[in-house]
Amino acid sequence: MPAFSLANQIAIVTGASSGLGAHFARVLAEAGAKVALLARRKRLAEEIAAEIDAQGGHAIAFAADVTDRDSLHQALHDIEEQIGIPDILVNNAGAHAGDMALDLKPEDWDAVLETNLKGAWLLTQQLAQHWVEKQHPGVVINIASILGIGVSPGVMPYAVSKAGLIQMTKALALEWARYGIRVNALAPGYFPTDLNKDFFATPAGQAVVKRIPMRRLGALEDLDGPLLLLASPASAYMTGSVITVDGGHLVATL
Ligand SMILES: NC(=O)c1ccc[n+]([C@@H]2O[C@H](COP(=O)([O-])OP(=O)(O)OC[C@H]3O[C@@H](n4cnc5c(N)ncnc54)[C@H](OP(=O)(O)O)[C@@H]3O)[C@@H](O)[C@H]2O)c1
Repeated sequence: MPAFSLANQIAIVTGASSGLGAHFARVLAEAGAKVALLARRKRLAEEIAAEIDAQGGHAIAFAADVTDRDSLHQALHDIEEQIGIPDILVNNAGAHAGDMALDLKPEDWDAVLETNLKGAWLLTQQLAQHWVEKQHPGVVINIASILGIGVSPGVMPYAVSKAGLIQMTKALALEWARYGIRVNALAPGYFPTDLNKDFFATPAGQAVVKRIPMRRLGALEDLDGPLLLLASPASAYMTGSVITVDGGHLVATL
């Protein structure tokens, strides 16, 4: 069996209706996992699930808003009933509000922090409670960002939320290692998706690309190896780790 096989595994991917999340769902399914795609736009997630099924995989879409505890509770209940108890959780749902800190509205701060940080916490806690109760091992992969490590103008709440997610990764790894629950984070650099593609079409966006040592944006496939490493037993002795996948962006010359 290949080192990255996820045969007999069940995975949840939040924010799986577009971008990185849709890609992660496809990659986990190709590796053999049954995948639950969570998003508010259930129709889009259903289309991706149908695509995965057509390729010989197994996927089901569920409507859920990560900022709403009850909707997560319902989704988790439905997943366990229809597929089984999940083994892997990818906390990928994310939002961004682009404004300089002086002009930022308090509601934009709330929306970003509620989605990127509290949303990840709410689902992780509910699932981990099931894992501990059933003495079931588990894997959590938090999708952070290099903006959780470095900073850039105009992204303050986003950077704060991702730094918080990285600290949450470490704190949960510490508390839950005794239960066989591993918690790690992926910190991608810049990948063109709905979240940022308008920016990368501008001269300012192109200037950012020139500062990446590899002189290109990431391609979604660049995340496959790191994702499968963290999802599979190949990373059995890793917890509390943060893997950057950024073409060297964080080590760019000052
Ligand atoms: N693209 C990059 O360069 C990059 C770099 C580093 C990290 N990331 C991270 O990667 C993740 C995915 O981003 P992306 O670039 O793929 O952006 P995207 O295409 O805009 O996807 C964001 C996803 O999050 C979901 N989402 C947002 N709010 C939600 C909520 N309240 N409840 C449930 N789902 C919600 C959206 O689904 P619905 O609208 O259907 O709910 C959507 O599927 C984010 O956490 C982002 O911070 C991206």
